Parts: sequence; structure tokens; C-alpha cells
Amino acid sequence: MAYLSTDRVEHHFYDLVIVGAGGAGLRCALQLAESGARVAVISKVLPTRSHTVAAQGGINAALGNVSSDHWHWHMYDTVKGSDYLGDQDAIEYMCRAAPLLVRELENFGVPFSRLDSGKIYQRPFGGQSREFGEGGQASRTCAAADRTGHAILHTLYQQNLRAGTHFHEEFFALDLIVGADGCQGVMTWDIAKGAYHLFQAKAVILATGGAGRIFRTTTNAHICTGDGGALALNAGLEVEDMEFFQFHPTGIAHVGPLITEAVRGEGGYLLNSEGERFMPRYAPTAKDLASRDVVSRAIALEIRAGRGCGDNKDYVLLKLDHLGTDMIMQRLPNIHELALRFAGVDCTREPIPVQPTAHYTMGGIPTNRFGEVVSADSEGVEHVVPGLFAIGEAACASVHGANRLGGNSLLEIVVFGRACGNRVSRFLRQHRYHPALTTDCWEPGVARVERWLSQTQATSSIAELRQRMQTLMQEHFSVYRTAEIMQQGVEALDALATELPDAAIADGNRIFNSELIEALELENLMQMARATAACALARQESRGAHARDDFPERDDQNWMKHSLARIRSGRVQVSYKPVRSRPMTVASFPPKKRVY
Ligand code: SIN
Repeated sequence: MAYLSTDRVEHHFYDLVIVGAGGAGLRCALQLAESGARVAVISKVLPTRSHTVAAQGGINAALGNVSSDHWHWHMYDTVKGSDYLGDQDAIEYMCRAAPLLVRELENFGVPFSRLDSGKIYQRPFGGQSREFGEGGQASRTCAAADRTGHAILHTLYQQNLRAGTHFHEEFFALDLIVGADGCQGVMTWDIAKGAYHLFQAKAVILATGGAGRIFRTTTNAHICTGDGGALALNAGLEVEDMEFFQFHPTGIAHVGPLITEAVRGEGGYLLNSEGERFMPRYAPTAKDLASRDVVSRAIALEIRAGRGCGDNKDYVLLKLDHLGTDMIMQRLPNIHELALRFAGVDCTREPIPVQPTAHYTMGGIPTNRFGEVVSADSEGVEHVVPGLFAIGEAACASVHGANRLGGNSLLEIVVFGRACGNRVSRFLRQHRYHPALTTDCWEPGVARVERWLSQTQATSSIAELRQRMQTLMQEHFSVYRTAEIMQQGVEALDALATELPDAAIADGNRIFNSELIEALELENLMQMARATAACALARQESRGAHARDDFPERDDQNWMKHSLARIRSGRVQVSYKPVRSRPMTVASFPPKKRVY
């Protein structure tokens, strides 16, 4: 290709490169920068715009500040919440580490809300219990009002500035450089200057967040385009458990922004068009604080039964005005603002229209509990990919299994950010020199960009293809699924993917070409959507967020296993590997019927 020459690609050398500047990437970067490593964080946006900023309700840790609590009860709730698909060694590790990591955040300067005693405020969240489900509701979610992610992200960013982490902002990751010895670096595009940069590193950590933008209505920011998963797929690796996509019960109807579970934790509840508080019919004990899959399914069933609200009867109402203006403005100020801006509703006076909305990618790049990326062989045996790590929503550790508990995602990012930092430190001690780069390793990354900048003739536009993909995902892979609907969806997505090479962008400039970035993001989204669809069609049972009308029961006999999707010669291949149901130090929680 004429454009290629080494002097057009700027080289950088770091000990490690972290792709993504959300909470996971920043927690990991902080640890490694403080240990003396030369750390680069590459982010396609300014770090404080990373999607962690949107997490509202809080972070789980069994501190016991409000109700008696124990990390083992947290572990039980998380295993049960995962519908027994979570890996219990990783879940034990996360729940044990939670109190330490939350106190560490407090020491870093996160402005948590406080109890009168001065201790961190903790609120009830969905699926939380005491005494292994026998002792009633726990209050485990540590909160900074309803802006907990914002508080954590800004604190971690400031700490990284102090620690000397190198930030490369508005850089887009194009391609992982992977050779026989493992990962050697990452090829990137400087969005602002329109130039190529090759980051050579001893280790690369993918912390790119989720892929919520595969759906039309989502709580996720426009940046959540599954970039890390797509980088892994392009490198010939797998993504795991992609069929388990969490629908948050309370996105603002028709537009998507999140209305935190904290509203129900503080005493809000759901109503159908008949004014009935319907959750006690579906979850007699936990009611509106059942886990998310249960509440989302209940709303979908109410709507299906004709008890939805509005002209199209397609949403329900979240009532919180009875909590009082003072309480709402103190504990839920962000919700008040979001409801006003996006629904035109003053929630101190009237209920908020809500519906289940795509929220969280529970699957992702397979890792062990140290953040090392693993790849399974044909026998399902895992092998570590040297020099490549993944953390946060981009990864699948797998602590969420088939359904994540609210408040466990902010926890996951700090726990596995630290665990990965520990493992990378060890890796750096063992690997003191940069691996030699594969010849012309920048070519695939350059080709990805040049193809878009040189193509002028098009049969379809990026915006149109993206909209069609999101609509397909929304209509064929929503809260309830059937073989027929999903089969149609898989075929339509495959056909859509074949149109992508013939699409073009109108803007051929190199400098700050946002249309180019949207094209690259669409390539990533398309891979993640196809992996999600193929895994969903293949799994013939209902478990957690994957609810099938045609296979309504969980099937532990045949389906207690993780899905793996790869792309080979343009086709998605699905295989499986076992669930790690043995914890590290305690007895395992065997599967049983989930009731709330
Ligand atoms: C929420 O506040 O409901 C979202 C937080 C989460 O997804 O854990």
C-alpha cells in the first residue's frame, strides 16, 4: 500500500499500554504508575468522559455500616444473581476484596455520602440479602448520592495525574500487534491530528468498556462500541457469554438514559397502567428489589399483557414522589435532573416513565481472575495469551455470569483493576525487554483507516447501517427471545455485515474526522452484535438475562457452560468451556431454583 512507510507511523515505547480510561483502566494504571512502571493510557475520549462517569447508584461491599453484613453473603447473592453461571473462584475473590477496595477509594478521596456516624452511606440494591437469603434485605451499596461513578472516575483520574501516568487522549485503537510470543503493542490513530501511532509495550491491557450501542435503546454512551472485544476477535481470540446482555429495568422510556436502581433502593416502586404495584406478584419477598433480570422480565410481561402505559402501552411508571423533595434532592439529585431533561417529568410530583433498556455487557474478553486473557483450545482447556490482559466491562472474568447484580460493576472495575495491576507487575519483572515487533505489524491498522478514507463510491451510509443493526438487535434479541425470531435476526445481521465493505463515508479528511471514527466503531459493533446473536441462538435454555419463550427453564444438565464466539473466514463459530464452580477457600454454592 503506497501510504505505508515507517516514517509516517510514530513509535512510542512504554512498559505497558492500557486501552481505555474508565475506572478499570485508571485503577490499574494508578497501581502500575506508582510501582515505577512507564504507563500509557490511550483513550478515544477525554478520560473523564469515559462511561464509568454514568454509573449512578453505587458500589457493593459488605462493610456492614447500615445492616449486618459479610462478604460470604455478598458472594452467595452474586452467585445466585448470576443464575449459577458465574465463576465462583472469581466471585469469591471479588466479594472478599470489596471492603478493602472501597476503603481505599475513600482514602483516595472519593466523596462518599455519609451516615450521621460519619461512616460511608450504604443503600439497599436489587438481589442483596443477609444470612444467605434467610436474613432479609441487606444495605450493601456504598453511594456518593446518585453520582458514584462520576466521583470514582474523577478521583482516579486525579490520582493518576499525581502518579505520572501518560495520557494519550482522543487516540483510537485500530489493531492489536500479536506475534508468536504474545501481545507486543497496539496500533492507533490520533483522532485530532489524523496520524498513526504505534505503541510498543511489554503488556497491553484492554479496558474499553461495554458494547451497549449494539442496541437501539440503551443506557450506554455513544462511545460504548465494544472496541476491546472487536480487537480481540480481530486478533483471532474469543469473546465469552455474549448472549447475556443485561436489560436494566428502568431506562427512561423511548430514550434510554438510566434511572438508577437506587430509586427503588430508597423506597420507589413500579406501577402498571392500572395503578397496581405489580412486582409483589413476581417476587413476593424482594418485590421491586428482585434482581434485574427478574424485574425486567416482569415489566415485559406486564406490557405484553396490555398493562403498559402511554399511547402504545409500552412502558410502566416508577413512582418516587412519596419519598419527599428533600430526600430526592439529597440522595437522587441526578435522577431529578435526568427525568426533567429527558422525560419532561418532575419526579418530586409525578412518576417517571420507564422500560427495560440495554445496559450492561456481561460477556466479553475471557480472562482469569488475574485479568490475564485466556483462550480455550478444542477441549475447552484455557491457555493464557502472553502479554495481553483485559479488565472491567470489556472483560468476562466471569463474576456476573448470566445476570449482574447492581453495584457489582463499579466493584469489578476496582477489584480486577488492582488484581490485574498485581499480575502485570509480576509479568514486567519476568519480561524486562520489549518483544521484537513483527515485520510491518502496523499494516493491518493502517489499512483499516485508509480503506475508509479512499472509498468514495457507496451503496449505503454508516449511519444507515448502524441504525439497521441496532434495530435488528433490539427487535430480535430483546428481553424475551425465540428460535424463530433469533434465526431471522442472525441471518439479517450476517447479510448486513456483507454490506459494510461497500459502505463509504462522505468526509475524506484526516483531521478530527468523526465520521471515520463512527465507521471504525461500526466495524467493532457489527462483530460484537454478530457474536451476541450467534451465542443467543445457540443457547437452548432460559438463564438470567437470556429468557426464551421456547425454552423457558434453566437446563443445568446441558447448559451449565460458558459460550465462546470466534470469527473465522467471516463466520461466527460458537464453542463452550466449563463454568468454574469451585471457589478458592469456601464450599461452592450448588445451583438451585432462584426465587426472590
Ligand atoms: C444503577 O445505579 O442502577 C446502575 C448501577 C449498576 O449498573 O451497577
